[in-house]
Amino acid sequence: MTTKRVFFTGGSGKAGKHVIPYLLDQGHRVLNVDLKPLDHPGVDNLVADITDSGQMFNAMSSYAGLDELEAGNGVPKFDAVVHFAAVPRILINPDNETFRVNTMGTYNVIEAAVKFGVRKVIIASSETTYGVCFSDGKTNPQSLPLEEDYDVDPMDSYGLSKVVNERTACSFQRRSGIDIYALRIGNVIEPHEYAELFPHYLNNPVVRRRNAFNYMDARDLGQIVDLCLKKDGLGYQVFNAANDQNGAVIPSRELADRFFPGVPLTRELGEYEGLFSNRKIREVLGFKEQHPWRRYLDWK
Ligand SMILES: NC(=O)c1ccc[n+]([C@@H]2O[C@H](COP(=O)([O-])OP(=O)(O)OC[C@H]3O[C@@H](n4cnc5c(N)ncnc54)[C@H](O)[C@@H]3O)[C@@H](O)[C@H]2O)c1
Repeated sequence: MTTKRVFFTGGSGKAGKHVIPYLLDQGHRVLNVDLKPLDHPGVDNLVADITDSGQMFNAMSSYAGLDELEAGNGVPKFDAVVHFAAVPRILINPDNETFRVNTMGTYNVIEAAVKFGVRKVIIASSETTYGVCFSDGKTNPQSLPLEEDYDVDPMDSYGLSKVVNERTACSFQRRSGIDIYALRIGNVIEPHEYAELFPHYLNNPVVRRRNAFNYMDARDLGQIVDLCLKKDGLGYQVFNAANDQNGAVIPSRELADRFFPGVPLTRELGEYEGLFSNRKIREVLGFKEQHPWRRYLDWK
């Protein structure tokens, strides 16, 4: 089936509010499960807390909307779960709360999905697993470009929670044999942020060092989630999720030499190819970016 009944957590947030409209446009039915509803035509909402396992089991066995009462066949099954709900970085909540919400929430969501027989789960992991983003001091990666086989080693509670979530996902996948794909999402950029943020980023590249100069257009993230929904049979997978090129006007080799001196390159880089590499989603999922930053800024 190409269109799916999707249980989407955290869809009211920065990323989800762009990803859900993309999924609706592809014909999927989406139930957004969040602490607050998303006001968007065509999306159904259920207010629920991912840290409460009972609520996740209940929500995942719920009607998505009143129209589903009409058939009289009981509650339909969800075809897929997309899990975005989280505390999205350090320094919003105390570190232990960030760790608790993210790890217990992810455990609860995946466990309910597996025990209800949902065959596809996509979870939001993060670029921060690579250990550079929220490190104490200026940390160099072990090698560049950052790719999925890297030995992830964050030193902060948020990045650590995402590493734990990847292990949780891997464990449930081994138990069930379903598909679970973890997206190591780069720094999400909404459409209005190109004009707001990019001039500063391009003029002051050092401010993007902790992100390894990546960006992830929120609408292109929608395409990636849709490609994950459509691809079957890969088991447990980790994918970096970012746009093709660096959010910088300096060629990649020079960026690496200037901002990560001495860090070994594991392969040749294209002229502006992302130091946070999206090669795997292009090659395995067929991702073709629609929203490169150069489309929105006239920059030499
Ligand atoms: N924004 C980025 O640059 C970025 C980068 C990498 C990874 N991510 C990950 O992507 C996902 C989405 O990020 P975002 O930027 O949209 O975050 P966000 O904070 O804007 O949205 C997260 C949503 O989750 C909901 N939520 C939080 N706790 C919840 C709970 N206990 N129960 C139910 N819902 C809860 C919030 O209400 C919110 O709507 C997160 O998992 C985040 O860690 C984001």
